[in-house]
Amino acid sequence: MMLVDLLACAHSLVHPGKGILAADESTTTADKRLEQFGIKSSVEMRRKERDLFLATPDIEKYLSGVILYQETLTQKSKSGKYFPKLLWEKGIVPGIKVDEGTEPMADNPDELITNGLIGLEDRVAKYHKESHTGFAKWRAVIRIDGDRLPTAQALVENAKRLATYAKCVQETGMVPVVEPEVLLEGKHSRARARAVIETTMKAVIAALEDQSLDMSGVVVKTAMALSGNKSGRKDTPEEVAEDTVTALVNSIPKGLAGVVFLSGGQTPDQATENLRAIAHYAAKAGAPWPMTFSYARALQEEALEVWRGKEENVDAARDIYMSRLEKVFNAARGA
Ligand code: G3H
Repeated sequence: MMLVDLLACAHSLVHPGKGILAADESTTTADKRLEQFGIKSSVEMRRKERDLFLATPDIEKYLSGVILYQETLTQKSKSGKYFPKLLWEKGIVPGIKVDEGTEPMADNPDELITNGLIGLEDRVAKYHKESHTGFAKWRAVIRIDGDRLPTAQALVENAKRLATYAKCVQETGMVPVVEPEVLLEGKHSRARARAVIETTMKAVIAALEDQSLDMSGVVVKTAMALSGNKSGRKDTPEEVAEDTVTALVNSIPKGLAGVVFLSGGQTPDQATENLRAIAHYAAKAGAPWPMTFSYARALQEEALEVWRGKEENVDAARDIYMSRLEKVFNAARGA
């Protein structure tokens, strides 16, 4: 893929209203989610789960891309097609999670650093060449604990790794989806979340600029600015929108391809209503880049609840999934 295709791909991922399904849960996380809904996990059950979400007719009306986990790249849908091929045929860009998860930082075990740089170049080239993935995601995890966390060291180290991965991905001809996730867990206020998102994003942008990334081919994935889940505070969508958009406008330069949001433990309704308010506020504030969704849990959990791993529930599960996709699609357009 040449640079022009990379830019076209970045642009198509943030196509107005359409968004990205994050179906890239690692094997361990996917199994945990399945078990949470009373589904016994196995390789075949994970394949069936992916088939439920990726082979649903007409998802291309709402989805521009899907992030896959490596196991899914070589699995086939019920139709006999490899999942990446199935997605391309629908006009949806398949992407790949390329980080290898987090571990506690050596100097500060309360904070996390993301692994996966060793052998990254070869893995990225292989995914692109053999599975025709168009983009690649790396997730860094930032914890808030009062004024104690995050430390500058955690921010700088995670930002450096994000930029190193992003450079490697862009050089291969794919779009980096750069995700520094500021976690919802904690007692912190929404104002603190907003400040941490802004500081984190500034560190990430500085690191990307140091690596001379072409920003017009970079998508950033972020959490929304929300009060911590143990704060006892429930934010209104308007509050979330103002703080989220302000933090991002203050930290992300104009030329970026786009910004996508993770759902990060919000209910499907919260993730939908907050996104709608963000779309409204962004238009008012003149945010300079397109913004849309890249949800995992908020798009999948209602369907998993109905599906429960049973063939006879597939149609009903797909109905609820499509209905959520339509709601989120409308919300991203501010409709
Ligand atoms: O890396 C995080 C996922 O791609 C988004 O997942 O929407 O469930 O937070 P979530």
